[in-house]
Amino acid sequence: MAPVTSLSDSVNKQLADALASALPEADGVDPLLRRSDRADFQANGILALAKKAKANPRDLATQVVSQVVTGDVIKDIEVSGPGFLNVTITDKSITENLAARYADPDRLGVPQAERPGTTVIDYAQPNVAKEMHVGHLRSAVIGDSAAQLLEFTGETVVRRHHIGDWGTQFGMLIQYLDEHPHELDHKEGEDLQQSGQAAMSNLDRLYKAARRKFDADEEFKTRARRRVVDLQSGDPHTLATWQKFVDESKIYFFSVFEKLDMEIRDPDIVGESGYNDMLAETCRLLEESGVAVRSEGALCVFFDDIKGPDGNPVPLIVQKSDGGYGYAATDLSAIRDRVFNLKANRLVYVVDARQSLHFKMVFETARRAGWLGDVWLDDDVKAYQLAFGTVLGKDGKPFKTREGETVRLVDLLDEAIDRATAVVREKDTLGQLSEEEIAERGAQVGIGAVKYADLSTSANRDYKFDLDQMVSLNGDTSVYLQYAYARIQSILRKAGDVRPAAHPELELHPAERALGLHVDGFAETVAEAAAEYAPHKMAAYLYQLASLYTSFYDKCPVLKAETAEQVENRLFLCDVTARTLHRGMALLGIRTPERL
Ligand code: ARG
Repeated sequence: MAPVTSLSDSVNKQLADALASALPEADGVDPLLRRSDRADFQANGILALAKKAKANPRDLATQVVSQVVTGDVIKDIEVSGPGFLNVTITDKSITENLAARYADPDRLGVPQAERPGTTVIDYAQPNVAKEMHVGHLRSAVIGDSAAQLLEFTGETVVRRHHIGDWGTQFGMLIQYLDEHPHELDHKEGEDLQQSGQAAMSNLDRLYKAARRKFDADEEFKTRARRRVVDLQSGDPHTLATWQKFVDESKIYFFSVFEKLDMEIRDPDIVGESGYNDMLAETCRLLEESGVAVRSEGALCVFFDDIKGPDGNPVPLIVQKSDGGYGYAATDLSAIRDRVFNLKANRLVYVVDARQSLHFKMVFETARRAGWLGDVWLDDDVKAYQLAFGTVLGKDGKPFKTREGETVRLVDLLDEAIDRATAVVREKDTLGQLSEEEIAERGAQVGIGAVKYADLSTSANRDYKFDLDQMVSLNGDTSVYLQYAYARIQSILRKAGDVRPAAHPELELHPAERALGLHVDGFAETVAEAAAEYAPHKMAAYLYQLASLYTSFYDKCPVLKAETAEQVENRLFLCDVTARTLHRGMALLGIRTPERL
């Protein structure tokens, strides 16, 4: 399917051409077209241009207007204010453009990026033997959407789940499991949700017991420390026990991702341990190039602008004085892998803003080593932390249980599903849905609500986790969008044999024009949200789409429209809106059930 040129792009092009013939030096200048309340579009690029050319902006605008050919797309163009251009477009071009998008149900005419590359996106990175919490939710939800948005623009996306599967804490876990070999056993043949929960409850119990013993028993502590050394030196038995922790944890992770309705693939899980073979080489390269220096035995990188509260520089420690490697060495090795083996052009890290200093130092180190490019050179590999804020409780403080513990992600998800199921049940006043359907819809609505609440504010901001608000039918929620979609499907079903069909010859109601112009803007939103790794822009677009649809529906009867052509055309408007909603929601990782 050929991509469709959006109306704003074709108007912008016509204005740019007119501008260039009115003023030769304006060749290539962007007329800066925006949607506007006064007309369909307003261009305000002439002001700056006239100022530069020392011309009168209104005169220049008038000249541009005289160059524009009206008819097909532009119906009317006039100068307004100090030199703005107000543009009204024809009803016919709106309907024709939407018809072209409608003919491409998958992509809705959205073009691919001009120069797609390869992006490695690091997201959904929980830690082995530990419960997942709301921070892991944010990384998973934002990362999944960013990955899908990028893929939709034609980018090659490599997913990496940098799970925490290495570190000194494994010494006590391994030793404890060896001394209590059945601690991780659970029944076979359960479904993924049951095995996931059983695995996690074993891991959690074992973790706490091992920690208690480690703190209380000096001899156990010594044995545990020895196992850290064994693990690092690759002792096969120690590695096999370590692997059990990883395998059990993965069962749990996959159960949570399943609940989250998110596809995570095993080969994309490359945890910290996946870079063990590269660590020594990473250190050697950094030391030989002088990027890192030895300081009190540790291998460190220093930065002029990074100092602690005492005014002393805070280094990035790549290797500790005892020879151990930490989080930084792993991340630096992962960069080498992603740049040189995976041949990435861009690296995106969906990680909590509280790790920003770490990434700032890691990126700067990689830049000095020549693994990442200088920011000002376009062809170089760039790294970006898509940093997200904290999830807060209703009290505005970081989300905790009443006892002050971290809230288990599964508990939250279950509660969201319960609430949503109640809403679905309540809404089904005619009792049309079976119990099974209610449960399925409840899950889609509940998980959608949690994802949407996370995605609809810009990632770097904190947000309050408020389930009442999340599953509300009114306001900026996924439920509202899902209902808009389901309502359209119900109209299409009611239409029976009458099929949606575009009739470009029909005059449009203002509510139809507003809806149509917004649908046409989908491609622009995709491009922007993908380029800026900003799913919240897609969420805002979809919310507005549903609102415009609601006011169209209030003002324009569909099945009871005056003529048969009008019925068909309005059904077509409904359907193209539904497809856009469906596509956009899928890019956020949210389902749009056909019936609610
Ligand atoms: N596992 C870490 C955590 O739970 C996040 C890992 C982020 N990715 C990375 N490449 N460092 O906080």
